[in-house]
Amino acid sequence: MVITGADIFKMAAIDYVKKKGRFVVAVSGGSTPRPMHRLLSEEPYFSEIPWDKIDFFWVDERCVPENDPASNFGMAKKDLLNRVPIPVNQIHQMTSYPSPEEGALNYEKKIKEYFRLKEGEFPVFDLIYLGIGNDGHTASLFSGDKALEETKRLVIAVKGGDPYVSRITMTYPVLNHATQIVFMVSGRGKSDVLKTIFENRKDMLPAQRVQPSQGNITWLLDKEAASLLSGDIVHE
Ligand code: 6PG
Repeated sequence: MVITGADIFKMAAIDYVKKKGRFVVAVSGGSTPRPMHRLLSEEPYFSEIPWDKIDFFWVDERCVPENDPASNFGMAKKDLLNRVPIPVNQIHQMTSYPSPEEGALNYEKKIKEYFRLKEGEFPVFDLIYLGIGNDGHTASLFSGDKALEETKRLVIAVKGGDPYVSRITMTYPVLNHATQIVFMVSGRGKSDVLKTIFENRKDMLPAQRVQPSQGNITWLLDKEAASLLSGDIVHE
């Protein structure tokens, strides 16, 4: 799973930079992405990826200090960004001051400016990595939260998750305009929620509402996470 996730990143970066001179990616936090981030900072990925042409965004962030282990930015910096030559002005951190609401508005403004969006337009990220909580959340979109119904804002402030803190998150309009979504899910603790997602289509957990209108979804699961799925779903 980790190698495939890194290969997808590398191939997309090379392809988009060749086609349009830049690659615009957004990553999630949590523990799952960390091995991939570390792998991307090592050979052969280090030399093969056009780091100077990448714009690196976050899907969500916990409103904690950067040196807090719960900080998605802090972890990505430690695992990857301190080790690869992405220009600092192309690393687009989600910050939550003077408040999570202000932080969300600022990030939304940053996205609108970066993508030169007109009123009512949504950004098209080349690639977005998502994870899934064992409760079926993704990004910082949690079941029952009014954030799930947001159709206009690109980025909003919420409270929830584990750790239960204020967070800033991209909304479904952004996720569902991406060209490619990659879900990375690992560990036995995710096997139940994956069974629900793949086999109980009627449920609408937050992760199931990621349905890119023009894009595609790739699922990267390790054996433990996929352990309750039937054979016709799981392809090595
Ligand atoms: C976050 C993440 C979140 C994460 C899942 C899975 O900031 O909490 O963006 O959506 O992807 O909670 O987290 P793990 O990878 O730690 O299981």
